Amino acid sequence: MPFTVVCGGFWGDEGKGKVLSYLALKDDPSIVVRAGVGTNAGHTIEFENREYKLRMIPSGFVNPKVRMLIGAGVLVDPNVLFKELKETNTLERTGVDYQCGIIEQKHIEMDSTNAHLKGKIGSTGSGTGPANMDRAMRSLKLAKEIPELQPYLTDVSFEINESLDQGNNVIAEGSQAILLSLFHGSYPYVTSKDTSAAAICSDVGVGPTRVDDVMVVMKAFLTRVGTGELPGELSEEETKKRGWTEYGAVTGRLRRAAPFNYELAKKSVRLNGATQIALTKLDIVFPEIAKSSNSDAIKAEVAEFIDQIEETTKVKVTIIGTGPGAEDIIDLRELT
Ligand code: IMP
Ligand code: MG
Repeated sequence: MPFTVVCGGFWGDEGKGKVLSYLALKDDPSIVVRAGVGTNAGHTIEFENREYKLRMIPSGFVNPKVRMLIGAGVLVDPNVLFKELKETNTLERTGVDYQCGIIEQKHIEMDSTNAHLKGKIGSTGSGTGPANMDRAMRSLKLAKEIPELQPYLTDVSFEINESLDQGNNVIAEGSQAILLSLFHGSYPYVTSKDTSAAAICSDVGVGPTRVDDVMVVMKAFLTRVGTGELPGELSEEETKKRGWTEYGAVTGRLRRAAPFNYELAKKSVRLNGATQIALTKLDIVFPEIAKSSNSDAIKAEVAEFIDQIEETTKVKVTIIGTGPGAEDIIDLRELT
């Protein structure tokens, strides 16, 4: 458990925010560190009767003892960061790596007007693709050049590795998901960099030999925003009939939906080197399990579904999401 990487199993929006907030409350990590591309991700957390949609601050903020960090590989939009620091009241315990790249207005403009990015790829318009383009050109500004960020700057890799040396738990929060990876996803309908568990480690400056667990978060059905393949895609009407309709946390766009796909689950486990699966939104597909936190609620069809996932992927389902709240979880880790 000391260093756990949490990553998206399909095309994002699997419920990583919710799983991460649960782990932050339960596993007492010293640090939760955000990895991934940047503000194109929106992690939704429901905690103490409030809903948060966070694009910069790690979902671990729900535990007031946790130090929150943003890794060097993550693009920072200072406007979004400051808004969320206030919203979550975490100014005192958040750190940004010196070397985080900075999203500027020109990147947002390009991302939301460029015919290729916005029109063809269906980008979120948050500026991340154009900012990563400038990073590859080595012309992007870094966090250490921005006066307003000075109080928050830190060496994230150093902090994490020190804390691991002291025997603490640290959780790395991936964003996006494996099938949106620039290298391994459905190119060109992908995001602007790799999103695998290995990339998450690289984002935050932790070497592969330090990883103890890779938890891949999979939703009980598939969704996708933007363009690109979605095997078994349902019509809007059928999606609604099943109660699977969702809207994007960043863009508000209607998400396309399809039933769970075992072949994709296998691929996702392989590319991430998963040691555990967190299965979310099981209550949407099997309402009888809603809000339960007891493993006795896993019966009949639900048990069969979980068995089939474990049989095809050869990885245990250890966490089950049964509702939107941070504590709507059946935790099977002690039983497996
Ligand atoms: P970009 O990352 O904004 O350039 O968008 C590229 C593609 O990735 C689009 O299809 C987006 O909808 C998708 N995408 C990027 N980030 C996320 C995410 O966090 N969740 C879901 N889809 C995402
Ligand atoms: Mg999201």
